[in-house]
Order: sequence, then C-alpha cells, then structure tokens
Amino acid sequence: MSLLRFGSILLLLFGHSLATPRSFSLDYKNDCFRKDGEEFRYISGSIHYSRIPRVYWKDRLLKMYMAGLNAIQTYIPWNYHEESPGRYNFTGDRDVEHFLQLAQDVGFVVILRPGPYICAEWDMGGLPAWLLNKKDIVLRSSDPDYIAAVDKWMGKLLPMMKPYLYQNGGPIITVQVENEYGSYFACDYNYMRHLTKLFRSQLGEEVVLFTTDGAGLNYLKCGSIQDLYATVDFGPGGNVTAAFAAQRHAEPRGPLVNSEYYSGWLDHWGSRHSVVSSAKVAKSLNEMLAVGANVNLYMFIGGTNFGYWNGANAPYGPQPTSYDYDAPLTEAGDLTEKYFAIREVIKMYHKIPEGPIPPTTPKYSYGSVGNEKGWRSLQTISDALETLSFSGPVKSMYPQTFIELNQAFGYVLYRTTLPVNCNTPTPLSSPLNGVHDRAYVSVDGVAVGILERDKALTVNVTGKAGSQVDILVENMGRINYGKYINDFKGLVSNMTLGKDTLTGWTMYSLSIDEAVSQGLLGETKPTDLPPPAALSLPAFYQGNFIIPDGIPDLPQDTYITLPKWRKGQIWINGFNLGRYWPTRGPQLTLFVPANILSTAAPNIVTVLELEEAPCSSGLCSVEFTATPILNATVQSDYKHQRRLFTKDDLL
Ligand SMILES: *[C@@H]1O[C@H](CO)[C@@H](O)[C@H](O)[C@H]1NC(C)=O
Ligand SMILES: *[C@@H]1O[C@H](CO)[C@@H](O)[C@H](O)[C@H]1NC(C)=O
Ligand SMILES: *[C@@H]1O[C@H](CO)[C@@H](O)[C@H](O)[C@H]1NC(C)=O
Ligand SMILES: *[C@@H]1O[C@H](CO)[C@@H](O)[C@H](O)[C@H]1NC(C)=O
Ligand SMILES: *[C@@H]1O[C@H](CO)[C@@H](O)[C@H](O)[C@H]1NC(C)=O
Repeated sequence: MSLLRFGSILLLLFGHSLATPRSFSLDYKNDCFRKDGEEFRYISGSIHYSRIPRVYWKDRLLKMYMAGLNAIQTYIPWNYHEESPGRYNFTGDRDVEHFLQLAQDVGFVVILRPGPYICAEWDMGGLPAWLLNKKDIVLRSSDPDYIAAVDKWMGKLLPMMKPYLYQNGGPIITVQVENEYGSYFACDYNYMRHLTKLFRSQLGEEVVLFTTDGAGLNYLKCGSIQDLYATVDFGPGGNVTAAFAAQRHAEPRGPLVNSEYYSGWLDHWGSRHSVVSSAKVAKSLNEMLAVGANVNLYMFIGGTNFGYWNGANAPYGPQPTSYDYDAPLTEAGDLTEKYFAIREVIKMYHKIPEGPIPPTTPKYSYGSVGNEKGWRSLQTISDALETLSFSGPVKSMYPQTFIELNQAFGYVLYRTTLPVNCNTPTPLSSPLNGVHDRAYVSVDGVAVGILERDKALTVNVTGKAGSQVDILVENMGRINYGKYINDFKGLVSNMTLGKDTLTGWTMYSLSIDEAVSQGLLGETKPTDLPPPAALSLPAFYQGNFIIPDGIPDLPQDTYITLPKWRKGQIWINGFNLGRYWPTRGPQLTLFVPANILSTAAPNIVTVLELEEAPCSSGLCSVEFTATPILNATVQSDYKHQRRLFTKDDLL
C-alpha cells in the first residue's frame, strides 16, 4: 500500500472517531457513569504530584496502571502554585499540566480535585497562608476577601484545566468542588453555590461536578448541594451497604461512589505509625466492586511532604515528612503485598493490562557520612542573622506573627532583652499558648529550653537585666482540618517574664532555604568548651559524600537517617528533604530521591539541628540506608489521637 493511501485511510479512521464526540456523564436511570455512551465504572487511585518528584511521575502512574486501575485522582494544592498573591508557579515539580498529560498517555482518566480547600494533610489544607493577611477572615465561606482570592485563583487555574476535560480531548472525567465541606463548621450554602457557579462558568455545562463527604447524614447535610453530584468517603472494615445508604439519601439515583477509600492512614509525630492490613483493604474493596460501585483508593501512593508542606491536626499534632500512608505503593514507589492483594481483587472485575509491572526502584546504601568525611560546624542561627535575614529585622513593641512579617514557612527569630535581673529561675511563659509551634530559647547565647504549643508553655531563665533573649520559633505545619485552620504562626500572643509582658522585640524573618542552597553559611571555629549538658543553640552542620565510581546505575534512591541527632531540617544539594525528629518518631528515615544526587561532584548534606548535635562528642554523622523505618516505637497518646482523627465512627 502506498504511503499516500495508508495516510488517507488513517485520516478516514481518525475522521470517523472525531465524528463520535467524547462525552462523560451521569446516568441516573441506570445508576452509573457513561463514557462515550457506554456504561463506565472507575477503579481509581489517589496520587498527589506535589508529593512525588516529577522524574518519578511516570513510573508511579505505570505501576498504578498495571494494578488494574483505570483512573487516578489528584488534588491541586493552591498554596503550592500561588505562594504569594499573583505569583504563580506551574513549572518543574509543579507542572500539573504535564502530570495530566502523562496520566492520559499512560491510559488513565482523571478525577480532579482542585479545591480551593483540599485537606490532604497538606499545610493549611492547601489554602495559601497569605489569606490570613486579613486577620479575621472566615475561610471556606462567603467572606468577600476569601471569595475574591478564590475567584482570582480559579480564574487562573480552571481555564488551564479546561482543555484537559474529557469532552475536550483530555483525561479529566469529573471535577470535585471543595472537599468534605460538610465536616466544616461554616455550613455556608451561599459559598457552595458561588463555587458551583464559578466552576460551571469556567468549565462549561457538560462537566460532571461532584462533592465528597463522610458517609453520614450529618456530613452530607452541609456538604451536598444541587447540581453537584454527592459522593461519600469511608475506609475498610465497616458496613459497605450502610455507607452507601448514606450516599443514597443524598442521591437516590446515580452511580455509587466512594471518593476516598482508605488504603492506609496518616501519621503524626509522637504517635504510632498507622498500618491497615491488606486483607481488610481487599475485603471491603471486593464488597464495593461487587455492588458495582466506583472506588478511589486514597492513597494509592502517598509520597513525601518535602520541605515544609506537611499539615497538622488539632489538638496540635503535626504530620511527619513521610506521607507513606501504608499505601499499596510505598513512599518511594515500591510494590507491596497490599499492591498485589488489591490487584487480585480488581482482576475479578476488570481486565488487568498485560505485560510486566515496572520493578521496585533499586535503593543504594551509601553508608555513613561521618567526621572523617569532613563534617563542618557552620554558624548558629543567631550568628548567621545577617546572611539569613535578607530583609533585615523588624522592630515592634509586641511580637508579630509570621504573616505580619511576610513569611509563610520555616523559622523566625524573635529577640528581646531581660527587663530586670533574674537572679533566681524566673518563668518565661506564653500564658495564652501562643508559641506556634515550637521555640528554642536562649539567653546570652546559652540555650535554656524549649517551648511547644499545647505541651510546654514555660521555661525558667536567669540572667542580668539587658541580657539578650533569643526565641527561634519553628512553624511545624498549619492545621489542615476542622475549625482551627486559621493557624497563625510565630509568637501569636505575648510572652511574659514573671508577671510582666515582654516588650521591645526585634524580629528576623529567615530565608534559610536560599542561604543553604546558595552556600552562604559560614564556618565556625571549633571551641574548646565542653559540650553543653542538654541543649545547644540551633545551628547548621555540613558534610558531604561522593557517589562511588564503577557501580552501574548510580545514583539510586536512598534513605537518610540521623540516629544521634534530635530535631531539625535537612537539605541535600540545597533540596529541602523535610524535617527529622527521631526522638519523637515514628519516622526515622527520610526518602532521598536519586534525582537530587550528583555523581559529578560531592553531595552536600546540610543539617539545621535545633536541639543538640552529636558533633561535639565526635559522632557528627548521618547514615544512608536502603531500607525505610517509619514505624519506630514511640511513647504516645496513640489511642487518643487515633480516635480524634479517624473517620470510622462516621458509619
Ligand atoms: C517553581 O517551582 C519549581 C518546582 O518546585 C522550582 O524549581 C522553581 O524554582 C520555582 N520557580 C520559582 C520562580 O519560584
Ligand atoms: C449493614 O447495614 C445494612 C443496612 O443498614 C443492614 O441491613 C445490615 O444488616 C448490616 N450488615 C451487617 C453485617 O451489620
Ligand atoms: C521553674 O522553677 C521553679 C522554681 O525553681 C520550679 O518550681 C518550676 O518547676 C520550674 N519550671 C520549669 C518549667 O522548669
Ligand atoms: C500584647 O499585649 C498588649 C498590651 O496588653 C496588647 O495591646 C497586644 O495586642 C498584645 N499582643 C498580642 C500579640 O497578643
Ligand atoms: C516495623 O515494620 C517492620 C517491617 O514491616 C516490622 O518488621 C517491625 O516489626 C515493625 N516494628 C514496629 C515497632 O512496629
């Protein structure tokens, strides 16, 4: 056949397929979705591109595809794309369009959850902290300033998403509006109506819009609204019939949908690692598929809260860096027993694609990076203020919050002086529990104690009048769920010394990530002073390691562990891997993706240790291992927290 003729046949075929328009809709009569006119049921998995390095998106998507899923679900975190008002970032790891394109190329349809609020154990549930510039803003409501910001953001985002709608040739079959709104106190129908209009006007009349709420009538009451198809979420182990009965109450006809079927569960620092058995997950999945329901497994791969992106629950309990979630694919994308258990269940209902499953990515144990490899003590935070505080200090009578200082994440140094002689131990306190979230206190360059939200409101200090008091405050992640999401950071109320309110503050907003990645921190001379007993000043340390020659396929992924260190933040080659806190657990290792490592030059490990580095005792080392540890035993209020944050009781 001539090339010309072949071409014209292709054109004919192609032309024919164009003649049948792509469509995706709800079929109320037959209780199902319809794709291009055919009955369609999705078996989907959640994957958050914001928690996975871009280079691994395809690998994770392929593994999901080979499990038998035909759809993926993702959130879009607003604060990840608009870190300051009007400055948008959709490049590199934040290139959501590329992610959608990959998902389509792999063979998926996409369930999009653009918020504006997403929960997701993500800082402030995805809302940008700068919304708090209006102090008394009512988030997730008709508050005009909130609405104005939402309109502007959605006016940017939704037109970008529109070409990716299924009917426009893209992968997106359904779009969620808000998230579990029925669990929020405001219950503002005008807000939900406004969002509905906004989404409709940006995306068109045809797209299937939906809501997701806990599977209980009390949640659906404020969460569901006309023109948005109501779906529910619930985990394994409960009564599937009863859970879907709740959805049926809101939607007497239409497809059954569990938008978040919990394949695992989240963690908190200081609580035991959550584990959900594969057998339990497989059993309820089977029950749901047997009744023809559409299911999205939340999460199918959790990934990592790199940098400062983790959220927190109330009473204040921040989530760790790993978002492994005990999901069927691990934080690093590894295949698990749960993956295969789920695949076996799906096999009974859908055809599983032929061909090999992409293997678990190899991990390499680079070993220990110790003193002999040239660890250096860098400056303390207090010594490096000129480098770290690009904008210079701000002075005020009373302390200001992060937002007032125009800083969203990380650390701020608050400095003042003792107004009187404190010859005997005198309580330095935050009587209104206003240290958000953890503070490292020193007097005249000597570390004296730690304050922590909800846990430690007082330290005793001694010193002469005029002694310098430094309080380094760490933002450990904003509350992402419930009514306390207006989570201001820093010193959010006054500090007292004895009975007096402390005044005359100098505050340094700190650009630590810039200073680390640009290598601006100076070295300090080793001192002959004996190591302090309990605490030292928050300070930087730096080591490096070379990836060995002659071993094929390096660099590979690895995990870093900091056994003798206490709490802090860690960067490799300027990339912020996240927080470490082995003294609280349960996470002991941080995932290090290969793409941040270099074979061409030594890899630089920078540690900000907040409490006490092991360096003075000659053990200034970190370890690279091939196996993650996310479940170290911790002393915990596990049961208490588990009860507070579980959704099992919604059934
Ligand atoms: C945008 O985000 C990417 C990925 O996180 C980052 O590499 C890049 O520096 C960001 N761009 C700007 C201008 O902040
Ligand atoms: C599950 O719930 C349904 C509907 O509420 C009820 O009829 C059924 O008995 C329950 N099944 C079990 C095992 O409790
Ligand atoms: C502060 O010192 C007082 C008196 O010595 C003592 O009773 C109190 O427990 C100390 N408080 C803290 C938080 O260490
Ligand atoms: C600190 O106390 C002063 C005086 O009572 C008050 O005006 C101010 O609002 C307080 N500041 C904070 C952050 O609570
Ligand atoms: C942690 O997980 C590993 C691997 O699954 C298991 O062997 C170990 O017993 C667990 N440890 C704790 C303390 O739960």
